Amino acid sequence: MDRAEKSHKILVTRKLPDGAEAAFARHFDCRFNPEDRPLSAEDICKAAEGCIGIAFTSMDKFNADLIAKLPASVKIIATVSVGYEHVDVAAASAKGLVVTNTPGVLTDATADIALLCLLGAARGGYWGERMVRENRWPGASMVTPLGHDVSGQRLGILGMGRIGQAVAHRGRAFGMTIHYHNRKALTSGEAQGATFHETLEGMLPHCDFLSINCALTPETRNLINARTLALLPKGAIVVNTARGGIVEDEALINALNSGHVAAAGLDVFAGEPNIDPRYRDLPNVFLLPHLGSATLRTRTNMGLRALENLTAFAAGKAPPDKLN
Ligand code: DGY
Repeated sequence: MDRAEKSHKILVTRKLPDGAEAAFARHFDCRFNPEDRPLSAEDICKAAEGCIGIAFTSMDKFNADLIAKLPASVKIIATVSVGYEHVDVAAASAKGLVVTNTPGVLTDATADIALLCLLGAARGGYWGERMVRENRWPGASMVTPLGHDVSGQRLGILGMGRIGQAVAHRGRAFGMTIHYHNRKALTSGEAQGATFHETLEGMLPHCDFLSINCALTPETRNLINARTLALLPKGAIVVNTARGGIVEDEALINALNSGHVAAAGLDVFAGEPNIDPRYRDLPNVFLLPHLGSATLRTRTNMGLRALENLTAFAAGKAPPDKLN
């Protein structure tokens, strides 16, 4: 190990899996958060005093105000997430801070959760489970309750990056036909027969299922709204494992109530953890508390990936996942 590295102090704002924390401790003089207590902006600034870098999570809002108040010792901020809409990258760049994220290591775990949401929404993951727990076995009826077929249906993917492609791969295994909308078309090797749509509006009428897998940016905020939902075939199913802010809650809830959207599987919500409470009362939604990357191996690898960025920076090299 580089002796210089060990002399650097790093703040880790939330508890990481033991394997990741042990690796951090081998490389740096670390300030951990063993109680996993959410830190306020003020707490972060205080705890970061004398630190060269901060490893933090998507629950920590690194907005312009917090970035301006960070101690001058801080030179790199490394989010332990692939999404980075919680970081004002422009403000960080203006202050001369390097920003990094953790792409690649949570692709499979997040795609798995997208399929769980898709199947949960389509096949009664919520209402079926509840019937068993509440001792309401449905009896011998052939007509109720009924879910929706997955096999043989069309799956439209909004955002065909790493995670979108991994969702497509899983969808194919279920016999689904893949459509996608992305900023640019994939190579034929990457697309594996998926149909590219230049516009979202062009793709939506072809989606029995819509899986949202793009990043939250000013352009994608509220992209799934009353106008775009109306373009889905009646009875389509919406799955969101990207970011809640891409969907306008009011529009999706109205569509779920009217039946235009038959069901939704949601792992992410605008304003989470304070989600729109009306989702809790809808029978046709399957809801998870942002579990996309929540496995021990994936969360450990996310921590290690952030560490890789920090160690590269401390060694005077370009961090592999530098965003600015
Ligand atoms: C990510 O890495 O962006 C996951 O959604 C966890 O926040």
